[in-house]
Amino acid sequence: MADLSRVLAGVEEQLAVSANLLQDIAIRFKVAMTAGLLGKPSSLKMLPAFVNAPTGQEQGTVVAVDFGGTNVRVVLIELTGQGQAQIISRRSFPLKDKQANYDFTTASACGVQLFDFIAGKIAEIVPTADKTYPLGHTFSFPCRQYAVNEAELISWTKEIKTAGVEGENVGQLLQAALERNGIGHVQSLAIINDTTGTLLTAAYKDNTTDIGTICGTGHNSCYLEPDHPLTKQPMIVNMESGNFDQIVQTKYDIYLDQNSEKPGGQRLEKMASGHYLGELVRIIVSSLVANGYMNGEAAESLNIPYFLTTEDLSTMLADHTSGLNAVARVAANRLGMIELRTSELVALQTIARFVTIRSARLVAATWAGTLFKIDPEFKRRHTIAVDGSLYEKMPGYAEYLAQAMKEVLGIGNNNQVAIRLSKDGSGIGAAIAAAMVYSPH
Ligand code: BGC
Repeated sequence: MADLSRVLAGVEEQLAVSANLLQDIAIRFKVAMTAGLLGKPSSLKMLPAFVNAPTGQEQGTVVAVDFGGTNVRVVLIELTGQGQAQIISRRSFPLKDKQANYDFTTASACGVQLFDFIAGKIAEIVPTADKTYPLGHTFSFPCRQYAVNEAELISWTKEIKTAGVEGENVGQLLQAALERNGIGHVQSLAIINDTTGTLLTAAYKDNTTDIGTICGTGHNSCYLEPDHPLTKQPMIVNMESGNFDQIVQTKYDIYLDQNSEKPGGQRLEKMASGHYLGELVRIIVSSLVANGYMNGEAAESLNIPYFLTTEDLSTMLADHTSGLNAVARVAANRLGMIELRTSELVALQTIARFVTIRSARLVAATWAGTLFKIDPEFKRRHTIAVDGSLYEKMPGYAEYLAQAMKEVLGIGNNNQVAIRLSKDGSGIGAAIAAAMVYSPH
């Protein structure tokens, strides 16, 4: 078998994001932000959210819907002001369930079915028609907004294909479904991106928050633009940074992209988000096997796209046993690779780590670019609110991010920046956005 450690060093080099590269990406990101904001060609859509930061005093009982791709969550929330929120009830449902025999994410399902499903779930938690309940809707896909409650889906991401939603006004689709399902007393008032929800939830408690990011199944960031060209007022802007395209792709990224639902789109997301990291590792490993660097030729599941998941990478990275028992289990169960030598197990874990570190460093570079844009001299404090399974659960991810931020900003500027988990921010943020615009009569 050819030299595995030599080839691993080559993989590391391809996936490395050096300190210089961090700077370079940050500057390119800032340039793309400026262009996108002015409506010039840019891979950053820079979508206005028509929401400013909250005051922290917003109050009321609000329904929140959090629709992000894998699950839909419906939540009844009591906002009590002073940055406090209490969850009254919360349910979560998968959008596809083989056993229950439904899948609302394929092209054979349509928007009406999808929103009827969601409305049915809202009906289970909302009290009867005693009064009007404002509803905030987190819809975690790129939308062109015309007002806080008017959002048109530009295109699906995260491999979702439901028919009859692209190009449609998502707020109207949900409101029509609420009415069809006998809960017209629930009023859809705000549609926000999950990054916006994450920012709003953190800013409800801490007014230094000005960036919101999701590092989960998908990846994206928003920020509070101090002087939006449309309104000359502060406004949150959904950058759709997962579509940023100024990063050189490796041959593995190109392969993944070409075999994805939308080749060419969401290039950063395909390098950085949870939906894709497992697949990237699988592609790298299968290329090493095909070239005779690892033993696994007869392994069938090694050739099944997306069979290796980001949770599997988490399991591998958390394995500190001397025999790498968990890595061996993942290799056998998810890649069909059995009887691997220790050096091969180490290689699997190392590849998972390289891919994870690259993801964190790319995200950090985009944060640095955003900070360079909004406060070039780092005159004030900034808080970056983050949510998502990668940030929360992937071993080492938060540390890799923090380390890269230090490198790209320098210690002095980095002291002005805090990174905070904003757990379940996307749902609570929808409630805050709805409360910001609701005026009961
Ligand atoms: C979507 C974004 C979203 C992100 C995180 C991306 O695929 O385009 O709108 O914020 O995923 O959920």
